[in-house]
Formats: sequence, structure tokens, C-alpha cells
Amino acid sequence: MLLKDKIALITGAGSGIGAAIAQAYADSGAHLVLADLNGDALETTRARCEAQGVQVRTAVVDVTDSDATKTVIDDCVAELGRLDILVNAAGMLTEAPLIDMDPALWHQMISVDLTSVFLSCRWATPHMVAQGSGRIINIASQLGIKGGESLVHYSAAKAGVIGLTKALAREMAPHGVLVNAIAPGPVETPLLAGITEEWRAAKQAELPLRRFGTVEEIAPTAVLLASEPGGNLYVGQVLGPNSGDVMP
Ligand SMILES: NC(=O)c1ccc[n+]([C@@H]2O[C@H](COP(=O)([O-])OP(=O)(O)OC[C@H]3O[C@@H](n4cnc5c(N)ncnc54)[C@H](O)[C@@H]3O)[C@@H](O)[C@H]2O)c1
Repeated sequence: MLLKDKIALITGAGSGIGAAIAQAYADSGAHLVLADLNGDALETTRARCEAQGVQVRTAVVDVTDSDATKTVIDDCVAELGRLDILVNAAGMLTEAPLIDMDPALWHQMISVDLTSVFLSCRWATPHMVAQGSGRIINIASQLGIKGGESLVHYSAAKAGVIGLTKALAREMAPHGVLVNAIAPGPVETPLLAGITEEWRAAKQAELPLRRFGTVEEIAPTAVLLASEPGGNLYVGQVLGPNSGDVMP
């Protein structure tokens, strides 16, 4: 019960990595606020987490909407008393070569995968500073470090998340708020549903581990970063459960 009675808010909790982190946090004793665009998916995650005997609230929210995101965070603190852990896992993936990329696709990606992280950090940190403690865990990607073909927008957004994480970590650590990122390699989730078998085979062949990860192999890193004393000395770090794809 590493996170017993902590209050955690997880975006993107309806699916994939966010849902697995929600489950791992519930298994570790945390009470949860689960946020996602997809209300039906949130209910599935809620049912699984409630089975662990923790309190679970859900919020159907678009994390690119500043006012709506602020409301979810403020409501969490008003109703549950505090916010100990924020996990930013909401995200999307599209592919297009730069020479064909509609600027609208760029703006959408930056909004969903980067600006949303800024917004939830912006509205959560005043509460955490007032508490004198908190943990923020941003889900980046190893593509933010190495870049990906036809993924200029995604790679830029994720590199932005890494830069934001490091800068915010410096600003927040003196207040007792620790900010870190996780940069997974390819993980089996609906996000990768559109990839071709050819791409999958080629990608697996280049990974030292020769396979993609599972969400259950990512979630424990988010538990570690949120836990005490295990996470106490991580400040502005980018942890890489990535099958060996990137070795910074
Ligand atoms: N799957 C991978 O291979 C992989 C690798 C590295 C990083 N990531 C990152 O991990 C995070 C989670 O991805 P996943 O693979 O679990 O994907 P997923 O598609 O399974 O889950 C993403 C969730 O985010 C939600 N979401 C999307 N846009 C939203 C918005 N505007 N507001 C609220 N919720 C929104 C979706 O509804 C969905 O439930 C993403 O940031 C992704 O970029 C994934």
C-alpha cells in the first residue's frame, strides 16, 4: 500500500497507460479522480479501481479546455481535501509526413499532447505549493528524445513535455513538489491500433528487447515516482521504460 490514502488525479484514465496507472494506484491504496473525454471508458476504469475499496470519482473533461480542467482540479481539492499526485496521461497520436502536414494537425497535436500538460500543471501547482507537497508525473514518449518519422508534431509535443517537466521541476522542488516524466517506448494500447503489421515487425526488430511493452510494465514506474521514500529524490527526471529503444 505504497500510496495509501493519497489523492491522485489521472488524465487519460479511460484507456491504456492512464487506466493501468489508475489500477496500480488503486491497488496501492490511493483515492482517485479519473479524467478523460470518454465517459464510458472512465466507468470501466472506475469499476475496476473501486473493487480495491478506494474512493473513485470521474470527470468527463477535455484536457485542452483550460476552464474545465481547472474546475476538475479545484473540485478535487474542495471535495477530497487535497491533491497529492497528478498524472498527465491523456494524449493522441496521428501520423503525417511534414511536407503533407495540414497545420491544423500540428495545432491539434500541440494542444492535446503538450498544452494540456501545461494547463493541468498550471491549475494543480497552486494547490500543491499551498500544501507544501505534491508529485506530478507527465507521460512523454521516447520519440520526444529520438524523434519519429512522420511524427514531427508528436515528437515536438513530447519534447515539449520533457522540457516543461525539467523547467517546472526546478521551479517546484523548493516547494516540496516533485515533477518528473515517463517516456515509454512502444506500448500495446489503442493508441497504436492504426499501425501496420510491417511497421510493427520492423520496430520490434530494432528494439533490443525485441518486443513492445504492456501497460502493466509502465504503471509501476508511475507508482515509484509517486511513492515515499522511493520517489523522493527524482526531480526533473525522464524515466524510460522503453524496451531499450533509447538509452540517453
Ligand atoms: N502507447 C504507446 O506506445 C505510447 C508510447 C509512449 C507514450 N505514450 C503516451 O502515453 C499516453 C497514453 O497513451 P495510451 O497509449 O495509453 O493511449 P490511449 O489511446 O489508450 O489512451 C489515451 C486516453 O487519452 C484520452 N484523451 C485523448 N484526448 C483527450 C482530451 N483532449 N481530453 C481528455 N482525454 C483525452 C483518450 O480518450 C484515451 O482514453 C499518451 O500521452 C501517449 O502519447 C504512449
